Amino acid sequence: MCTKLWKMQMIQHYQILDQYHDFSKETKILEIGIWEAESTKYIMQNYLTHEDSILEAVDIRIQDAAFEAVWELPEYERTTLIETPSDNFFDVLNEETYDVILIDGDHMYSQVLRDGLNASKILEDNGIIVFDDVQLHVIPKYTDNGVKRALQELELEWNLECLLDCKDNTIWTNVNVYRNTK
Ligand SMILES: C[S@@+](CC[C@H](N)C(=O)[O-])C[C@H]1O[C@@H](n2cnc3c(N)ncnc32)[C@H](O)[C@@H]1O
Repeated sequence: MCTKLWKMQMIQHYQILDQYHDFSKETKILEIGIWEAESTKYIMQNYLTHEDSILEAVDIRIQDAAFEAVWELPEYERTTLIETPSDNFFDVLNEETYDVILIDGDHMYSQVLRDGLNASKILEDNGIIVFDDVQLHVIPKYTDNGVKRALQELELEWNLECLLDCKDNTIWTNVNVYRNTK
């Protein structure tokens, strides 16, 4: 019952992304935080619509369940699952940029801050960054409200336009969306 509810909520989060990006165009997508690949699978099936679009998905530990969820999909040949901490992934990037970056890895304040800053440096003009689990403080382990606090700090530091702030939303989506308008 809980698992089903979680998956329904997750899908609701990602269903909104086509309001902010035209996925019929060639798109490079980066996802931080795969877990069981429910979100990865959703992105592959719904947003790798252009034949040259690609997804790179990063997790500190890729579960067998994640591979099993995606490896037989036709979009798998345009998908790369990368097992490494997000800090290491950003460290070794060389000139790569992305149109859509989804951040749903470690939700503690300092890591969200680093992931957000690193992501903003490799975001294409007009690209979007999406943060998941913004209202995670309702779960006891995350009472430090790390995602929300990191976003408040990031909003002061970067020049990204906030397109969606879930606190202002009447429909509970739990994601914030930012665009690089420079
Ligand atoms: C909330 S889950 C991701 C859920 C997934 N996006 C979904 O919606 O189904 C968070 C994931 O982040 C990964 N993670 C935690 N710390 C990380 C780090 N420093 N770098 C990369 N991934 C990390 C965890 O292993 C976990 O799989």
